Amino acid sequence: MATNGKQPMNYERYILPHQLPEVRPRETHDDPLRVDPDEQFFIRTHQAFEIWFAQILSELEYARLLLSQPYVPESDVPVIEGHVRRAAAILDLINQHLPLLETLDTTSFYNFRKHLFGASGTQSFRFREVEWLMGLLDGGLLDYGKRKRTLDETLMKRAAKAKRAKTSGPTPSQREYDSLAQYQAQWNERWDPKRERLDSRGFKGMDATRDALQRRLIDIRKNGTLREKAIEWLERTTFPAPRSARPNARYGDDFAERYRQAYMAAYIADSSVLRDLQGVSPAEIKRMGREAGQKVGFFLGAPHRRAIVFLVQFASQPLLAWPASLVEALLELDQAFANWRDRHIAMVARVLGGGRISTLGSADSGLLYLRETLRKRAFPEIWDARSFMLSREEAASIYTPRQLRAFGFVHENHSPG
Ligand code: HEM
Repeated sequence: MATNGKQPMNYERYILPHQLPEVRPRETHDDPLRVDPDEQFFIRTHQAFEIWFAQILSELEYARLLLSQPYVPESDVPVIEGHVRRAAAILDLINQHLPLLETLDTTSFYNFRKHLFGASGTQSFRFREVEWLMGLLDGGLLDYGKRKRTLDETLMKRAAKAKRAKTSGPTPSQREYDSLAQYQAQWNERWDPKRERLDSRGFKGMDATRDALQRRLIDIRKNGTLREKAIEWLERTTFPAPRSARPNARYGDDFAERYRQAYMAAYIADSSVLRDLQGVSPAEIKRMGREAGQKVGFFLGAPHRRAIVFLVQFASQPLLAWPASLVEALLELDQAFANWRDRHIAMVARVLGGGRISTLGSADSGLLYLRETLRKRAFPEIWDARSFMLSREEAASIYTPRQLRAFGFVHENHSPG
């Protein structure tokens, strides 16, 4: 075969199967002839996850790169979506992979667990990089949580005053915000802005981990996160003129106002069920209506949030279908990640329970920490937008049928012949 002086390609040269790390089973102390295949299995399954995390990072990096263009060509939108969906599909695959670990019964795990004291999945730098690249370190994410909390707090205080009842404990969105704020603070504290380096003290003996995280932080500072780039892209959405809008270069505000009115009409129609089935008083219904108005007003107040509502609400219009599908893919990614957290916790509870001291030295085996992470979302706005969606009939007041046709493909000629 002609090879032009180069060696011919083959499976070994291309796939590098011999570069997989070798995992030698540990010999048990009492009987050197016996090995511990459970520990070998435990190490290899973690390595398999690491390979998939690396691939997820490549998918998200490429999606971020395409989304970073000052103008994202329409033909790139399905490509970006493809990479985001593949990252989500890999997460789905490794979620199915987690039950494998449940073949490790508790006593077999305890046979070798003492050898991993000091080590923990929390030290997986690729896992952390996936979180960061998606956007969990974004200040903007924290701001959204903060504003949501302020709104929720205001509404909660009013409700409490009206009922003269004391509310105890933080609301779910407060807890979500607090755990995210702690998470961001924990990583910011490790970063030395003067030297542009991560503080080495937290990474004793883990140079590769420190270097990888350091590189990723620098990358994120320079190139942003998937969340930031997705938001910038959404902020550039142009809105066509809704019904009876005055000529205007930017129709986002007109859309938001029309949408708010349509949403409130639907909310008021729904509230009859409060009166008929629950006997709620007209004054209380009115107060709830005011709160709903404040919430939808706040939500539509930001350009990227109103763009999400616009795209998802009118997703069946051909010209909006791809951008809406990309929004959906980002949600799918967030959901696949949430499913991983959920499934990992169930597995930890099954294999380990919550009682014995964790490998990192906390008193509860680490289960409480993991439960705190359950609420993390990189795109909470896309989830929240669901609360404001309308039926097609309820949304009919926003655009005339003719205006809606502007979102179609090149108009077909319906005339016979
Ligand atoms: C028998 C199997 C497993 C057990 C008992 C287990 C246990 C735990 C526990 C207790 C934690 C909480 C932190 C700590 O105290 O260490 C944790 C975190 C973590 N584990 Fe596992 N784990 C198992 C398998 C896996 C696998 C296969 C992976 C895949 C790489 C993994 C990845 C992680 C990650 C990434 C975290 C950090 C999560 C976060 O910070 O949000 N674990 N694990």
